[in-house]
Amino acid sequence: MYRIAVIPGDGIGPEIIREGVKVLEATGVKFKWIYYDYGAEHYLKTGEVLPEEALREMETCDAIYLGAVGDPRVKPGILEKGLLLTLRFYFDQYVNLRPIKLYPNVFCPLKDKKPEDVNFYVVRENTEDFYVGIGDRFKEAKHKSLLEVKRSLYEIKFDIDITQDKDNEIAYQIGVISREGAKRIIQFAFELAKRKGLKRVTSVDKANVLTNVYSLWREVFEEVAKQYEGIETEFAYVDAITMWFVKNPEWYQVVVTPNMFGDIITDLGAMIQGGLGIAPGGNINPEGVSMFEPIHGSAPKYAGKNVANPIATILAGQLMLEQLGEDKAAEAVERAVIEVLKEGKVRTRDLGGDASTSEMGDAIAKKVEEII
Ligand code: NAD
Ligand code: IPM
Ligand code: MN
Repeated sequence: MYRIAVIPGDGIGPEIIREGVKVLEATGVKFKWIYYDYGAEHYLKTGEVLPEEALREMETCDAIYLGAVGDPRVKPGILEKGLLLTLRFYFDQYVNLRPIKLYPNVFCPLKDKKPEDVNFYVVRENTEDFYVGIGDRFKEAKHKSLLEVKRSLYEIKFDIDITQDKDNEIAYQIGVISREGAKRIIQFAFELAKRKGLKRVTSVDKANVLTNVYSLWREVFEEVAKQYEGIETEFAYVDAITMWFVKNPEWYQVVVTPNMFGDIITDLGAMIQGGLGIAPGGNINPEGVSMFEPIHGSAPKYAGKNVANPIATILAGQLMLEQLGEDKAAEAVERAVIEVLKEGKVRTRDLGGDASTSEMGDAIAKKVEEII
């Protein structure tokens, strides 16, 4: 019996997570679902985003299953940072694994590209870079910032004195890459390549402009790469890789990237695999509590309409099963998704059909039961 913390969240979150749970239940694997109603409603009612106590409770769970957070009534960042990023950082989920996979009978906006052309992994660092959440905003000629980054790997304090020649409004945000932080994610990417029999690892950065942070990233990539003979490596600048994803997606096998570029290139990745409604992600701590979610957000315009595609969330469930070691169930979920897509009878609006969120969930759950 696996104990799973479930955070449906905001917008379409509750609708898609319901289908995810339905499909996971259909695998026959035994789960105890522990629901948490954190998100916009809870915040607007109580002013609370995510209490420490809930984090400690979730620590006793086998995994976390999350819908999406973010709501137009709440200032951007409060829920995204207070809930989602807090969870990723608290549980030190340093790997954000985002498979980019075009399934059969799904529309790909790239001309002539087939499922065999779009099939790779983005391994996104998930705790550092411009996501460390430190920066400041001020107007005075003299300003002092005391900034702190607390992670499992380290605690860093920045004590910054700023003087300027006039009272101009300034905002700044600091990006941090550490040797250990870069090393563990790059190693994960190479280990993934090895495990999956893949032969190329591409590193993404912007070392030509952000020379401090990404020269360290590059150096670590080169060092780690030396330990993996037989795996080809390359560097790609982030601007160029967006172009290559569109032009030659078939080139990519494993792409390892710092946090912010990883966020951006995986929405592009989602589009070349058929849309945000299909793209799942895992926030993984190989030794701790991992969290699984679709890579899309709360899509407020579709909230409560039962039209969103639950496949991204269902495939996030597949990643969760894999992480739990339930390989047979994981395979069944993916096969069920593929079969339903291939048959093409049940398709949500984003896939060109008129099926509802729950009809899609029902069809996939039924297929899982047939396969298992
Ligand atoms: P979004 O990913 O929520 O939606 C963008 C668009 O993608 C939608 O308008 C819709 O057209 C499409 N889409 C997304 N998911 C879909 C699905 N399952 N089925 C069909 N179509 C789908 O991005 P946004 O509009 O920029 O952000 C909305 C809110 O979500 C914001 O508050 C943002 O901060 C938050 N957000 C949360 C997460 C997360 O919880 N992991 C991720 C991204 C954004
Ligand atoms: C994602 C989201 C998050 C991110 C936000 C909502 C904090 O865009 O999961 O891709 O930037 O990582
Ligand atoms: Mn994103």
